[in-house]
Amino acid sequence: MLTNNPVVLNVRNLTKLYGQGCPQCFDNTGPAYGSNICPVCGSIVACHNISFDLVQGEILGIVGESGSGKSTLVRCLYFDEDASSGESYLAVYQDGQVNLLQETSQRKRYVRNHLMGMVYQNPLLGIKPHFTAGGNVAEKLLTADIYNYHAIRERAADLLSRTEVPLARMDDFPAHFSGGMQQRVQIAKALANNPPLLFLDEITTGLDVSVQAKVIRMLSDRTAVMKNGRMVEIGLTDQIMEDPQHQYTQLLVHSML
Ligand SMILES: Nc1ncnc2c1ncn2[C@@H]1O[C@H](COP(=O)(O)OP(=O)(O)O)[C@@H](O)[C@H]1O
Ligand SMILES: [Mg+2]
Ligand SMILES: [Zn+2]
Repeated sequence: MLTNNPVVLNVRNLTKLYGQGCPQCFDNTGPAYGSNICPVCGSIVACHNISFDLVQGEILGIVGESGSGKSTLVRCLYFDEDASSGESYLAVYQDGQVNLLQETSQRKRYVRNHLMGMVYQNPLLGIKPHFTAGGNVAEKLLTADIYNYHAIRERAADLLSRTEVPLARMDDFPAHFSGGMQQRVQIAKALANNPPLLFLDEITTGLDVSVQAKVIRMLSDRTAVMKNGRMVEIGLTDQIMEDPQHQYTQLLVHSML
């Protein structure tokens, strides 16, 4: 069972506020209010007190309506955004003893380059369209301190073929690729440093909602449900689908069937 695997990532009380904030922000937002906007100061509570563990080999799916905070959570964990407060521990970094969210930007960059991968919904956020496909992968390998030219070329070719980018296109520019192929280059790049932790944002967007549900169910060992900046439920995907506890999850699951 996956649950016996060691913890890879431990997230505690991650909170992200857009705006100056006030003492009322958290008491007046959330699912009970159907809003993440503080009625007093107008700040947006994008994420509030998000806590979860991720174990080795596990895929955690995060679902929830648009604006519920899914991307913000991932962007904070990948340091694209500074979390307002909270903790994040990665087992492979300093024995999981150091809160990454409080590290210097230089350290965060190290963690990102060596220990994390990210696949954005928009491939052009993750790749440079005017670097070749191989060059994009090579760039990530370089940031992960792999410098040997032949090793880089070989590894880039391997990654691109694994993500089904024809090797004949390796020296072409993604600017001229289809969206789907750009996305495969981005995935190859995200996997280049063999990251212990991979983030994927909105991987099912563009699919029919009922197909999205099937994909989530096939892929995710566990599923977390977000609403108005809160994580309202987390559990084994099968359990969430068959016996949702939170009222919002029940609505969501029914809308997906
Ligand atoms: N840079 C930003 N500035 C202000 N508000 C933002 C910013 N990014 C996201 N938000 C707000 O934070 C909330 C969560 O957004 P997001 O994380 O993108 O949700 P999701 O990915 O679930 O659709 C939304 O209300 C959104 O408008
Ligand atoms: Mg999003
Ligand atoms: Zn407020």
